[in-house]
Amino acid sequence: MNEKTRTLCSLLCFFSVLLVSISQSNGQDLALACGASESSADPDKKKWEPDTKFLKTPNTDHATATYQDPSLLSTIPYMTARIFTAPATYEIPVKGDKRHLLRLHFYPSAYTGLNIDDSYFSVAANDVTLLSNFSASITCQALTQAYLVREYSLAPTLKDALTITFTPSDKHPKAFAFINGIEVVEMPELFDTAVLVGFTDQTADAKSANLQTMFRLNVGGQDIPGSQDSGGLTRTWYNDAPYIFSAGLGVTLRASNNFRIDYQKMPVSTAPPDVYKTARSQGPNGDLNVNSNLTWMFQVDTNFTYIMRLHFCEFQQSKVNQKAFNIYINNRTAQGDTNAADIIAWSGGKGVPTYKDYAMYVDASNGGAGGEDVSLQMTPSKFAQPEYLDSQLNGLEIFKMDTMKNLAGPNPKPSPMQANQDGKREFRRDKRITAFIIGSAGGVAAVLLCALCFTMYQRKRKFQGSDSYTSSWLPIYGNSHTSATKSTISGKSNTGSHLSNLAAGLCRRFTLSEIKHGTQNFDESNVIGVGGFGKVYKGVIDGTTKVAIKKSNPNSEQGLNEFETEIELLSRLRHKHLVSLIGYCDDGGEMCLIYDYMSLGTLREHLYNTKRPQLTWKRRLELAIGSARGLHYLHTGQCCL
Ligand SMILES: *[C@@H]1O[C@H](CO)[C@@H](O)[C@H](O)[C@H]1NC(C)=O
Ligand SMILES: *[C@@H]1O[C@H](CO)[C@@H](O)[C@H](O)[C@H]1NC(C)=O
Ligand SMILES: *[C@@H]1O[C@H](CO)[C@@H](O)[C@H](O)[C@H]1NC(C)=O
Ligand SMILES: *[C@@H]1O[C@H](CO)[C@@H](O)[C@H](O)[C@H]1NC(C)=O
Repeated sequence: MNEKTRTLCSLLCFFSVLLVSISQSNGQDLALACGASESSADPDKKKWEPDTKFLKTPNTDHATATYQDPSLLSTIPYMTARIFTAPATYEIPVKGDKRHLLRLHFYPSAYTGLNIDDSYFSVAANDVTLLSNFSASITCQALTQAYLVREYSLAPTLKDALTITFTPSDKHPKAFAFINGIEVVEMPELFDTAVLVGFTDQTADAKSANLQTMFRLNVGGQDIPGSQDSGGLTRTWYNDAPYIFSAGLGVTLRASNNFRIDYQKMPVSTAPPDVYKTARSQGPNGDLNVNSNLTWMFQVDTNFTYIMRLHFCEFQQSKVNQKAFNIYINNRTAQGDTNAADIIAWSGGKGVPTYKDYAMYVDASNGGAGGEDVSLQMTPSKFAQPEYLDSQLNGLEIFKMDTMKNLAGPNPKPSPMQANQDGKREFRRDKRITAFIIGSAGGVAAVLLCALCFTMYQRKRKFQGSDSYTSSWLPIYGNSHTSATKSTISGKSNTGSHLSNLAAGLCRRFTLSEIKHGTQNFDESNVIGVGGFGKVYKGVIDGTTKVAIKKSNPNSEQGLNEFETEIELLSRLRHKHLVSLIGYCDDGGEMCLIYDYMSLGTLREHLYNTKRPQLTWKRRLELAIGSARGLHYLHTGQCCL
């Protein structure tokens, strides 16, 4: 070893010691693997210790799950559980003057000698009720996920211990409580008062509130795992695509990799740089933007006040009034006209992050069908006359505030997702019949054209707005796409860089050999269209069903992300004037989308240089109206008559 390498080594040692001491400076943090007998680390190298030391109740049971769901990202802390058949308490030492994150991990699986469907219980942290008559099993089933993480942010109590109490329900015979993992993380006070949207003179005090994290989204970006969170708070940030309402997905924006986020006075623990370096905006077409809203929808429990925290950072523009937009929460104006949102005006400059908190009360009269929907909408401000007619969001968090020390809501009702999955075969068959009827009765298949134009348009918009989409050619799924893919903090929906379960439930995954077989190994004679993304082949699946197969060209820019977005989007679109997406193939390095086949070709073929019978004016008018209806649906998500 020469002198240089030795110096280098000692320097490296020095820095790693420094790193270790920094990451350990937060000595209060604790992760308990309940029911485990020894300490162990999860794949993120987080250390989980046994829970016995903190358990104040003697003679509790522990159990090991008999089945490991393939969607479990880690066996720790999920494969072991602490079981309570009577009220039981944990006592965890904390600094009483600090706010704390509390995460509860539940894996409602088969445990020897217990029927998980009998498990109903309540959980309290100090005197705050977190869960009541809670069934982890019903909740997970409704969300089609195997496990669940609930996260709470508890206000300082001035007590130097956090008491967590599990109480089996006395309304259900044989009821028991269980818990797989408990995390306690000290956090800085990141909350303050928030204006109640629609009531300028009223505020909600989040600073003294106990909160439940409902959603935490890296808008326009990838999932950020807890290990990459800022401030060591180990929060997970999910991609926002599953919450976008209607077909107007907007475009995703991304700052260059070495772009620096300048936090200035804002604590870095507010949100990691990756949240601020990605965003979703409406897109480059200002005229289209002013006539539509970018809309997100969230399901929440009624009769609670919620804090919506919108994170912003401008990384493209640097002047005031280059972008100015209105923000609506539940149809109420949060920022409008004379005080339209202007990120640069708020933050003071390019690369400087900022956030805004809004409060709203959600009762049964609010929102849509179940009275539990919360919407967030944005559209450019015509009033402010900004240089660019666009709106933008970088991150979003939604917290539920406690009402008289209660945060518990009811168990969810069985979700429509499940209904879809059970009924998917019939659902799809119906669609194909509809498409067939239109195809033959209408005589023309303008729809395929329409759908393809639309997808091309989407892509064009995306690439104008984003400067770095990877065009990797990875398969989109691991091996677990039938079972639940991911747990969210909220447990309200599944999300992530994987396809949502909804998409997975609504469309079918084909193997490459099925596709090759159906297209005679992508024979050129089967090509029915060509675009920037690659070729469209006609093909046959299941022996007789004709399909159109869009095969991504390896040289095209369409990356994994785009491919997933397209499936997410198209699988949710069901309209009689649009070609249905039947499925996809992500096998053997190929990415294909499989659509209904319109046997009569494109509208163009019926209009120009054609030997086919001339279309009547009535027929042409019907086609125009049908296409307009399809487009209307794509823009609004609503069918018009
Ligand atoms: C919400 O409050 C209203 C009025 O107090 C009540 O009728 C309703 O049952 C409550 N809903 C839930 C889900 O608790
Ligand atoms: C956007 O949404 C708000 C609130 O729902 C609504 O008042 C407004 O008319 C919408 N704007 C457009 C252009 O659709
Ligand atoms: C918002 O407006 C839409 C369309 O007008 C309506 O369907 C929805 O129920 C409204 N939501 C609320 C919270 O009032
Ligand atoms: C407990 O939850 C179950 C399932 O959601 C529900 O059927 C039952 O009515 C609830 N019991 C109470 C006492 O709220």
